[in-house]
Amino acid sequence: MEKNRIHIFDTTLRDGEQVPGCKLNTIEKVKIAKKLEFLGVDVIEAGFPISSPGDYQSVQEICKSVSNTVVCALSRAVEKDIEIAGIALKYAKLPRIHTGIGTSHYHIRYKFNSTPEKIIERAIHAVKYAKKYVEDVEFYAEDAGRTENEFLAKICENVIKYGATVINIPDTTGYCLPEEYGYKIRFLKENVKGIHKIILSTHCHNDLGLATANSLAGIMNGAEQVECTINGIGERAGNTSLEEIVMIIKQNNHLNLFTHINTKLISSMSHLVSKCTGMKVQANKAIVGMNAFSHSSGIHQDGIIKKRETYESINPEDVGIDQSSIILTARSGRAALSYRYKKLGHFLKKNSLDLVYSIFLKYADEKKEITDMELKTILEKANLNHKKNNKVLNNHHTNDRRINVL
Ligand code: KIV
Ligand code: ZN
Repeated sequence: MEKNRIHIFDTTLRDGEQVPGCKLNTIEKVKIAKKLEFLGVDVIEAGFPISSPGDYQSVQEICKSVSNTVVCALSRAVEKDIEIAGIALKYAKLPRIHTGIGTSHYHIRYKFNSTPEKIIERAIHAVKYAKKYVEDVEFYAEDAGRTENEFLAKICENVIKYGATVINIPDTTGYCLPEEYGYKIRFLKENVKGIHKIILSTHCHNDLGLATANSLAGIMNGAEQVECTINGIGERAGNTSLEEIVMIIKQNNHLNLFTHINTKLISSMSHLVSKCTGMKVQANKAIVGMNAFSHSSGIHQDGIIKKRETYESINPEDVGIDQSSIILTARSGRAALSYRYKKLGHFLKKNSLDLVYSIFLKYADEKKEITDMELKTILEKANLNHKKNNKVLNNHHTNDRRINVL
């Protein structure tokens, strides 16, 4: 069965950057954009040009710096916004304007003090106006997560009629459950005339920790694009994280989906975004957290040393990490200790290992983690004890001069 392609729309530089304390300058944005292109994303949302001269300049510079990736600029359903977005995209080889309006009761009634009919008119006008600048126009129905499906279908049908090429269904407040969000996408797929002419997109926020699950539900129900950010950064609790959704697709062949992402660049991409934005990645973050491929309990370490797959379903090399790490703590066993000594060039036979292990435990009880330096100190201490007790150290020579058999 042929696999379906999922387009990856990266909004790290727009929704991701809308975070308190996260400010990127143009040089950093261009650097990230170039790396995103290298990573293989299909669309880079470069910014919201009307929002500030800096954002405008960044969008323009990104357009000049990437060539094979769609560059997208955000706007509200306001002529001036659209015009500025269109001008900022002037140098893009593949420009896209992302325009839209709130469609939920909350937005129509309280934000716009308007009516559903007038919102449809504004949506149509925005798409028509954006088409004057670019061919590729993406329409977003803000707060689609809390918008009634029938009204959403109506607005989608109208914007398709006027030339929208992509329709984005944001769960702006992270409100939906995966089942609901998946149903919404399926409903649109089955009830909107012309829906097969356009790309249907997910855009999920993580207020309940469901952004990735909702995006997955979306693509399992027919969406063809996922909007996401590196490290899941974004408004409030963030957006769907690119690395999670991409690896879910890669790990699950039976979904019959694929992306163009070179997953081996995920780890370095994550580091670059974290460094430039100053937003630290939590240690237990899936895929890119410091602990994502680290093992510290004795039982897991023993399993991993025997066969990596016992406690890892993802190969760290697939995301650009050389290998899993075995962290030495008071919960580590002899297998882990012996493994780490082997990496340092020492092969410990059983008796030596027992002795070294007893000293190691004393150190480990006082520290969170034992470093290579400390392992050397422990070994020296064990050697001294041997000598003190007048025992002969089990010191063999091997052909391999790098290995020290003790
Ligand atoms: O979350 C959202 O609704 C958005 C739109 C502006 C696309 O970011
Ligand atoms: Zn958003």
